[in-house]
Amino acid sequence: MGVIELLCNAPSSSLCIDRLKLNRVFEYQGNCSSRSRRKVPSFSVMASTIPAAAVNDKEDSQQEQLSPNVTGASFIRPHLLKLKPYQPILPFEVLSARLGRKPEDIVKLDANENPYGPPPEVFEALGAMKFPYIYPDPESRRLRAALAEDSGLESEYILVGCGADELIDLIMRCVLEPRDKIVDCPPTFTMYEFDAAVNGASVIKVPRKSDFSLDVGRIAEAVEQEKPKCIFLTSPNNPDGSIIGDDTLLQILKLPLLVVLDEAYIEFSGLKSRMQWVKKHENLIVLRTFSKRAGLAGLRVGYGAFPLSIIEYLWRAKQPYNVSVAAEVSACAALQNSVYLENVKVALVQERERLFKLLKEVPFLNPYPSYSNFILCEVTSGMDAKKLKEDLAKMGVMIRHYNNKELSGYVRVSVGKPEQTDALMDCLRSFV
Ligand SMILES: Cc1ncc(COP(=O)(O)O)c(C=O)c1O
Repeated sequence: MGVIELLCNAPSSSLCIDRLKLNRVFEYQGNCSSRSRRKVPSFSVMASTIPAAAVNDKEDSQQEQLSPNVTGASFIRPHLLKLKPYQPILPFEVLSARLGRKPEDIVKLDANENPYGPPPEVFEALGAMKFPYIYPDPESRRLRAALAEDSGLESEYILVGCGADELIDLIMRCVLEPRDKIVDCPPTFTMYEFDAAVNGASVIKVPRKSDFSLDVGRIAEAVEQEKPKCIFLTSPNNPDGSIIGDDTLLQILKLPLLVVLDEAYIEFSGLKSRMQWVKKHENLIVLRTFSKRAGLAGLRVGYGAFPLSIIEYLWRAKQPYNVSVAAEVSACAALQNSVYLENVKVALVQERERLFKLLKEVPFLNPYPSYSNFILCEVTSGMDAKKLKEDLAKMGVMIRHYNNKELSGYVRVSVGKPEQTDALMDCLRSFV
């Protein structure tokens, strides 16, 4: 996943983004009233940009005078003018050229990908594709039937997307009016905040507690005071790997808002997915993905379980051909080899435990126990986290560092193969 940040000239988590032209982000601090939202300076607008409305109001002759100053940006929706561009991750080939190493020699532990890749059936199925020149099934029927068998939830509750990322955006497009609010519980996956900004929604931030657990009391207060439309929860949470227990989830489900539970990493937690819960809870959506469990991040296949009263509207709003032929063929083939998927999961969970123990021995790292395929580490003893990431990159080992203030002293390490752990540890030992 690439790094996504909102452009703002104010510091970190207490951001408020002026909703005049953009969505508003503010940190919820309990007893929320409008006074407790700390506004910060709004964003700078490019001098050459003239709002479309201003242009339209002019007489024709004046428009002619103005036209040399009108740029294509005049047509862009105002709230998007302030969005910081998406910073994509470097493609593997580019990275390898830059580091002067073969792709297979790069220890890539920065994006929680599955280093084992998909089962061999996926490569066979891709090679045997008969009709790549025909549009794919808009209802992904084969895959949804396979997912119904895999999850035990009937296919009518399941919708497939171009990654879980597409489904997050689709949900927001279906649910949020511009200026509606969502609750986000940072530190967490940054796409919720990013997609809210794209959809012109405001973000109410209810930060996690110091152990990364959810602050349910504050979430409830924020819901009562701010009347958000939905909340995005992640279990296991990216970046710390903590999970949300049944009691906590049930408490939040009682609140009057739509709960989107992102289970992108659920396979590594040893816990059962809550997909079945959508039959009982009209306000619950559960998202999952093939990117992690089946090593298909590059083919882009995610899926979600939805209450029937919600899913019909997502069907209407989604792009007809959102899941490519290659993506559907690959996901179906991956599900055929459940033994491979299970073995890979077991290998990664075992390796996570070994990695955790080894990271604990590093004098300048404080790793957090994780239920996922990554481990968040606090960088201690005066060591600079960003420099650590950069120094490792020069040695061909990629890990994740965060630019935001709350996590600037942390790094996240994805769980790889044993030899990748060994390579990382050799480099880390050289810094001691
Ligand atoms: C919590 C979480 N949800 C969703 C995704 C994206 O999943 P997909 O690759 O299916 O778009 C990621 C990717 O890193 C993630 O960390």
